[in-house]
Amino acid sequence: MDMQSLLEKLKIRVPLFLAPMAGVTDMPFRQICRDFGAELSYSEFVSSEGIIRNNRRTLRYLTFQENERPIGIQIFGHDPRVLADAAAFIEKTFHPDLIDLNFGCPVPKVVKKGAGSAVLKDLERLRDIASAVSSAVSLPVTAKIRSGWDDKHVVIPHIAPVLEESGIQLVTLHPRTALMRYKGRADWSLIRQLKENTRLPVIGNGDIRTASDALRMIHETGCDGVMVGRGALGNPWLLSQIKAALSGTDIPEDSSSSDKINLMSQHFRKVLKFYGPEQGYKIFKSHISWYTSGLPHGSAFRQKANKCRSVHEMETVIATYQTLLKELPEG
Ligand SMILES: Cc1cc2nc3c(=O)[nH]c(=O)nc-3n(C[C@H](O)[C@H](O)[C@H](O)COP(=O)(O)O)c2cc1C
Repeated sequence: MDMQSLLEKLKIRVPLFLAPMAGVTDMPFRQICRDFGAELSYSEFVSSEGIIRNNRRTLRYLTFQENERPIGIQIFGHDPRVLADAAAFIEKTFHPDLIDLNFGCPVPKVVKKGAGSAVLKDLERLRDIASAVSSAVSLPVTAKIRSGWDDKHVVIPHIAPVLEESGIQLVTLHPRTALMRYKGRADWSLIRQLKENTRLPVIGNGDIRTASDALRMIHETGCDGVMVGRGALGNPWLLSQIKAALSGTDIPEDSSSSDKINLMSQHFRKVLKFYGPEQGYKIFKSHISWYTSGLPHGSAFRQKANKCRSVHEMETVIATYQTLLKELPEG
């Protein structure tokens, strides 16, 4: 399927995707990003083994609400049979819009089991996984890859036929090697190389921090769409700016400090509702750092927030900070 047909099938108007991020792209964050312009989002990555074992915690990652469509569920694993069974179960039980295969995660816990980016070391296995999953479901199956295991084993020159022949319908490339983790820079020239060598739609990902980065990536690589991860943390306004840039409309201004804290407060409430107070409170800590990074008196606020021992205390500290920001000229 070409990009246009796939976008039509998924009802995507602007090819702007929110990156899957474990521990981050839960339902509350996905909903916020959707409101700000992400046209497709993904679950956090989910273990195919966990799905097959019917692990309760794993299954929780698979739930989403109807207003989050189109949505992809991303799975990882090593054994083609297990991934295929997991994908068939997801299709039958949760009905997402697509299944994405994770061939990029560099985390030791995952790669030591031969999953995530470790699969890039063995393209025959990658072919077996992708073929087994594509045959097991009728949903579109997509893949998210890094550029290779290390800089001596970059897979971009070889991977296109493997993906195409195994039924993959779209590929997203984060052009860092697994060994780089998040260091150095994403090598966008590899996105171009992949695009030139495949008939599959290619989504470019890596280091997009502004709307002009997104336009530059498309211009430099010819990719069919962009995926944004870390740039949206504490700043989902970036998504609306990119969406406007891609649609050729006026780019909204950067958010003010007050905008950020108001959204942080709404996000906190959504997280509490979704996880309950105890877990929600822990999960929200990293979002607090992202929302307040670089804001006036941000570090004093974070110190106070870190000392809070209850939801009520936290709400009071947030409200006080909101008031302080309103009184500042830049708020
Ligand atoms: C906290 C965090 C969690 C991530 N989890 C996943 C994941 O579950 N699946 C995946 O394919 N990529 C994952 N990634 C990688 C992102 O999807 C993305 O490829 C990467 O961050 C580069 O894009 P960016 O520069 O826009 O952040 C994660 C990244 C971060 C920062």
